[in-house]
Amino acid sequence: TNRTFTMIKPDAVANGHAGAILDRIIKAGYKVVALKYTKLSAETAGQFYAVHSERPFYKDLVSFMSQGPIYAAILEKDNAIEDFRKFIGATDPAKADAGTIRADFAKSIDANAIHGSDSDENAAIEGNFFFSNFERF
Ligand code: GTP
Ligand code: MG
Repeated sequence: TNRTFTMIKPDAVANGHAGAILDRIIKAGYKVVALKYTKLSAETAGQFYAVHSERPFYKDLVSFMSQGPIYAAILEKDNAIEDFRKFIGATDPAKADAGTIRADFAKSIDANAIHGSDSDENAAIEGNFFFSNFERF
């Protein structure tokens, strides 16, 4: 499919990398079809990452994702989901390919700068979580 969902995570926003990351996304051919600056509460971060609720890192993940503002966006491009996952690099920045967003902007597996949806179904769920019908067109 042609749409994915992303967040520029609190570490990247706090470090002043949001503009550079968005610029790379746009220059890589993604159209930003919805965008907002917002902050997750612990409760909303917990809901967003509910699929990971049984994982050992869940509490840290929720605390990290609610520590500061983020940018949430829906992106459009051919083969968006698969291409964007490659473009951002591996979850652990130490394993991310050179030139990917995580290789260049992430510090650790916890503070890894950016999110990318992992399936069509999740891209739709995640986009709907942040954007109303009126905001997505
Ligand atoms: P997202 O795009 O943020 O969803 O990352 P991902 O799809 O590459 O990874 P996944 O969905 O499996 O995990 C969600 C987030 O939990 C990751 O971005 C990491 O920050 C964190 N995480 C995943 N695996 C681990 C782990 O083994 N240890 C720790 N500390 N954090 C992890
Ligand atoms: Mg994921």
